[in-house]
Amino acid sequence: MEGNTPELQQHESNDKRPQFGNRLLSNGDNVFQHNAWDNVTWDEEQQKLAQQKVNENSNVILSNEKIQEYEHQADKYWDKFYGIHENKFFKDRHWLFTEFPELASSAVKQNITQPLRFVTENTNDDKKETHIKILDLPSNNGSKILEIGCGVGNTVFPILLYNTDPNLFVYCCDFSAKAIDILKQNPAYDISRCKAFVLDVTQESWETPFELESLDIIVLIFVLSAIHPEKMKHVIQQVHKYLKPGGIVLFRDYGRYDLAQLRFKKGSCLAENFYARGDGTRVYFFTQDEVRELFTDCGFMEEQNLVDRRLQVNRGKQLKMYRVWIQSKYRK
Ligand SMILES: C[S@@+](CC[C@H](N)C(=O)[O-])C[C@H]1O[C@@H](n2cnc3c(N)ncnc32)[C@H](O)[C@@H]1O
Repeated sequence: MEGNTPELQQHESNDKRPQFGNRLLSNGDNVFQHNAWDNVTWDEEQQKLAQQKVNENSNVILSNEKIQEYEHQADKYWDKFYGIHENKFFKDRHWLFTEFPELASSAVKQNITQPLRFVTENTNDDKKETHIKILDLPSNNGSKILEIGCGVGNTVFPILLYNTDPNLFVYCCDFSAKAIDILKQNPAYDISRCKAFVLDVTQESWETPFELESLDIIVLIFVLSAIHPEKMKHVIQQVHKYLKPGGIVLFRDYGRYDLAQLRFKKGSCLAENFYARGDGTRVYFFTQDEVRELFTDCGFMEEQNLVDRRLQVNRGKQLKMYRVWIQSKYRK
């Protein structure tokens, strides 16, 4: 299934290591010796080839009618997706707490060593070493968290399981009623610590079970990419309104030239770097600069903005697959 969400699943399930940034490919290494390499560098030639592929797959834009249909039926396409896959997707989210230690309980957080990553701070910068930052939160005795686009709970349930802070409360929303239904049927759904609800975050105003300026953390993991680029700013403005002063956003999403983008064929492009998959769900591919502009324009302060490049290898087929994710942290 080309350019489809299995790419995300594949990324997650192939990698059983506790964190990224551990296995670095050096000159002379046999690339097919391991399944995955971290923090690979892209040379100019590779960037150019990737841009060429993008030019090719986006030189035909779908009709306006089709674009509108994808927009108006967006939640239905996701309902259908979850109707088919139920909760069998996006498993093994073992990277959650090393990349986002803020989601762990206060006691555990102290003991998480900040993973070292070789990254570029800006799209065009040279690679340098950096640690994943661990941010302080407005409340240090348990936080109120909201996950937007929670799907069937693959982020929410690990948080509920591993974060034992007595004052923790996790809200989570998705515009797919089917996803929320499946999430609520999970035996780990505990209404004394969690509330899931249906919400389309592109709506002008939000109906929520919490007040404005009441949240410590808002989590955006592979969700903004599913929203039309013209509506992203509104979503981030709303996110800003609901965070406490000092509250933070944890963001991880697809990066420009990720293999999922390069695999799209002509006839699936809806707008620049925005595509419809075969099942009608949509996906955008970000640069670091775009993410930065989006958040800082809405009044956020940047704490960290990294590009995470990884080479996944299919040893059997001798295939090299370049993955690109953007991972950022912003503060209100
Ligand atoms: C790629 S999935 C990721 C799901 C989940 N965050 C994860 O990482 O497993 C994108 C999710 O965003 C949800 N979504 C897309 N547009 C949305 C919107 N406008 N409002 C709320 N949820 C939305 C979809 O229903 C889907 O569950």
